[in-house]
Amino acid sequence: MLAIAILAAGKGTRMKSRLPKVLMPLAGATLVERVLRGAEALRPERRILIVGHQAERVKAALAHQDDLEYVLQEPQNGTGHAVQQLLAPLEGFQGDLLVLNGDVPLLRPSTLAALLERHRSSGAGVTVLTARLEDPTGYGRVFTDAEGRVTGIVEHRDCDASQRAHTLTNAGIYCFDWPRLAAVLPGLTPDNDQGELYLTDTVAMLQPALQLEVADWQETNGINDRLQLAQCEAVLQDRLRRHWMAEGVSFTDPASCTLSDGTRFGRDVLVEPQCHFRGENVIGDGCHIGPGTLIEDSLLGEDVKVIASVLRQATVANDCVVGPFAHLRKGAVLEADCRIGNFVEVKNSHLASGVKANHLSYLGDADVGTAVNIGAGTITANYDGVRKHRTVIGAGSKTGANSVLVAPIRLGEGVTVAAGSTLTADVPAGALALGRARQVVKPGWSLPATTNA
Ligand code: UD1
Ligand code: MG
Repeated sequence: MLAIAILAAGKGTRMKSRLPKVLMPLAGATLVERVLRGAEALRPERRILIVGHQAERVKAALAHQDDLEYVLQEPQNGTGHAVQQLLAPLEGFQGDLLVLNGDVPLLRPSTLAALLERHRSSGAGVTVLTARLEDPTGYGRVFTDAEGRVTGIVEHRDCDASQRAHTLTNAGIYCFDWPRLAAVLPGLTPDNDQGELYLTDTVAMLQPALQLEVADWQETNGINDRLQLAQCEAVLQDRLRRHWMAEGVSFTDPASCTLSDGTRFGRDVLVEPQCHFRGENVIGDGCHIGPGTLIEDSLLGEDVKVIASVLRQATVANDCVVGPFAHLRKGAVLEADCRIGNFVEVKNSHLASGVKANHLSYLGDADVGTAVNIGAGTITANYDGVRKHRTVIGAGSKTGANSVLVAPIRLGEGVTVAAGSTLTADVPAGALALGRARQVVKPGWSLPATTNA
């Protein structure tokens, strides 16, 4: 039997933020969400989140998590006090308790599984996850005896000079024999620099206590301030980029690009410098992205080229070319072979295959037929100040430069719109539509002489 408790009640004072620390985002997911994900594979019987500071906000952010129990810690008097709050909900529970810190988000599932295995096979009272750090500043130091058993953990601020030089640190992750922990929890005292109850003090009372040192120390990075947040982001980004390079994606300057867990790439994708992928994306085989592109929650088919553009909630089929400086917004759907050029914005519009909109246009709430050519400066005027209306442009049509199509409006197939037209009425297939004043030319006309004295 396994129960998991996640400590997430602290304020995160060192963050200096309005957000509770565990809701800080890291590569697009909150810290606590990442901690939960890391433990998913262990399939625990119970998952309990200890909340306190801004408890309602933390719960609201995790509303989609099924079977997650909450325990309120009020006030927040240290990590030992936090775990004392489990005495009631876990009364009579006979299994192991895995304690995770809500601010240690990079642990690999395999590391947690190894910790559990070590604990279960040894029969220890507690097994502590440790790391050997070159710079252990801020972490609790783990001390062991000649047999390698953990004798105690001393917080950085409580260490004397010689203890500070010690580099084996506490990751804040522990596997406890719950009945034994429950028996010693009430005996904790606030005998330390912060005057709090420390979970780490239970270790000396749960002999034999063992430890498992992680192979990759970066996994145990804890996040207490913005610098550590940035360092963890860098570790995660590095993991993601290495993963995708191993899967056949080329990055010309990997360090300049950021990815999200939810981004999937096909083979032979080339990502040029300064490209950022957020949310859930699929980037098909052979795409060429960047330089300078942001893609969020979008689907790209195969061999799509995107340069210096922003795509959000867009769907782009095979062989399209987007940019430079294009903006595809929510509901932009491009079928194969479209060309979207500089300063063209597309929103909630369906573009059939082969549509070209190469310069300075806005296509909003439009249905554009096959092989339509959108002239420079064409605007679909979709908003009457109250409601949005649709524009339909039939296959093979051409709009002249600076055309305004005032929606709702329908152009049939093969329509030609003269440059500079403002169209407010439907146009039948095959017609030429002009909607502008006829040019007036007055020969031999010059300005009257000025009389201004
Ligand atoms: C803690 C450990 C330290 C370890 C480090 C690893 C203790 C006493 N120290 O220190 O040995 O090296 O983690 O990152 O445990 N929390 C509560 N209630 C509270 C206080 C904290 O739920 O009253 C939660 C916080 O939200 C956080 C976690 O516990 O998620 C750890 O608290 P934090 O204050 O960050 O402890 P550290 O100083 O990092
Ligand atoms: Mg911490």
